[in-house]
Amino acid sequence: MAYDLIVIGSGPGGYVCAIKAAQLGLKVAVVEKRATYGGTCLNVGCIPSKALLHASETYSHAAHGMEALGIDGVKPTLNLPKMMAHKDATVKSNVDGVAFLFKKNKIDGIQGTGKVLGAGKVSVTSDKGEEQVLETKNIVIATGSDVAGIPGVSVDIDETIIVSSTGGIALEKVPGHLIVVGGGVIGLELGSVWARLGAKVTVVEYLDTILGGMDGDVSKQFQRMLAKQGMDFKLGAKVTGVEKAGSGAKVTFEPVKGGDATTIDADVVLIATGRKPYTEGLGLKEAGVALDNRGRVEIDNHFQTNVPGIYALGDVVRGPMLAHKAEDEGVAVAEILAGQAGHVNYDVIPGVVYTQPEVASVGKTEEELKAAGIAYKAGKFPFTANGRARAMLATDGFVKVLADKETDRVLGVHIVGFGAGEMIHEAAVLMEFGGSSEDLGRTCHAHPTMSEAVKEAALATFFKPIHM
Ligand code: NAI
Repeated sequence: MAYDLIVIGSGPGGYVCAIKAAQLGLKVAVVEKRATYGGTCLNVGCIPSKALLHASETYSHAAHGMEALGIDGVKPTLNLPKMMAHKDATVKSNVDGVAFLFKKNKIDGIQGTGKVLGAGKVSVTSDKGEEQVLETKNIVIATGSDVAGIPGVSVDIDETIIVSSTGGIALEKVPGHLIVVGGGVIGLELGSVWARLGAKVTVVEYLDTILGGMDGDVSKQFQRMLAKQGMDFKLGAKVTGVEKAGSGAKVTFEPVKGGDATTIDADVVLIATGRKPYTEGLGLKEAGVALDNRGRVEIDNHFQTNVPGIYALGDVVRGPMLAHKAEDEGVAVAEILAGQAGHVNYDVIPGVVYTQPEVASVGKTEEELKAAGIAYKAGKFPFTANGRARAMLATDGFVKVLADKETDRVLGVHIVGFGAGEMIHEAAVLMEFGGSSEDLGRTCHAHPTMSEAVKEAALATFFKPIHM
């Protein structure tokens, strides 16, 4: 039987595309080589890491955050296998949820490794080596990304001593010393997990700042907060070697500006230096599908590759490697295939780092506006001046709103603080509708909430905040 659409890969981009296409009346199949649906995000990425981030934060709060609230005598003990079981159960309910939605939407899930044979033809090889060829009007490549490793350094990732994020969410015991190579999102999230559970954590980062690309104010203040929580940072440090030594490992790095190399010992090393598009074994070259110079599948504005009928989305194409960006692209591609106008607004894609406090951002940073020569005004409001934050002892952080100097249209919002990942969405909605800082500042916000700081930062942008 011929399909209207075969999606290769069932991560957030692929499975959402499949569901949306089925909802719009297309006959859809999804090819997935893992035993479960959901891709990296649901199986070994976003979802399990959030289970561990929440559990480790609760543990750390119970251990250190209670007395200040007048609750004495709480002395939690860590049951790591049980914490991991919570993580596994969270993953299971999510991947089972996708399987349920496939059934509900009459999507055929086909287990095996997909290969593009050309427009309209996909081969699937099962674990047992049996191959079948499926026919389809359209193909969507949604194969995601894989660990990039350290450019120019050969590293043997065994997922026990030298781990990627996959091994980093499955350690059997809390390492004495964890070295994190790369101060990006994965490094800081997983570094936080193990630091809260008792590990000494050292982050070695090439740039002079953590979270490169985030607003400068945010990354500076956030680094101070993480340092206060006990994380050690070696910035401007290029890792040139990671090797196993005894029961642990050694990491060698040298100053980016030049100078002597340093070697430090670790029990576990987490390699978190980015991810690369995953196109291995897909047969793209043979099928004539073009890649760009960074190995990403090249697409036009309608997500179509140079081969008509073959589309691609998510981590395997240009843009930020974020699950929600992939999901929105999945919806857009399904709509385009169903003859509708699918569209993604890349100017309004929030980014969240799920540490404690959280970091959240949408739109342009101050550095980007400066570089683009756009005249802007900035308003900032600290959580120290927010009543709810004081009541919860969650006064770390601030909200920053950036608006066009002439038109007052909001161009970027950056938040460091408890619940930032939830608060950012009012900014996203405002920006989606082209709202101004005055619109945001005049929108009634419930009192007392952390979100009032968003309103106050908006007030600070177009005139003056009240509570400062
Ligand atoms: P990343 O690109 O965020 O950070 C990698 C860091 O490693 C960079 O700061 C880079 O300067 C540094 N680095 C590279 N080579 C180095 C070297 N030789 N020595 C020292 N430092 C070096 O990549 P990350 O954290 O691995 O994440 C991968 C992808 O997954 C990202 O695109 C990220 O957005 C996504 N992700 C998103 C999450 C979220 O939204 N909460 C959570 C986890 C991952």
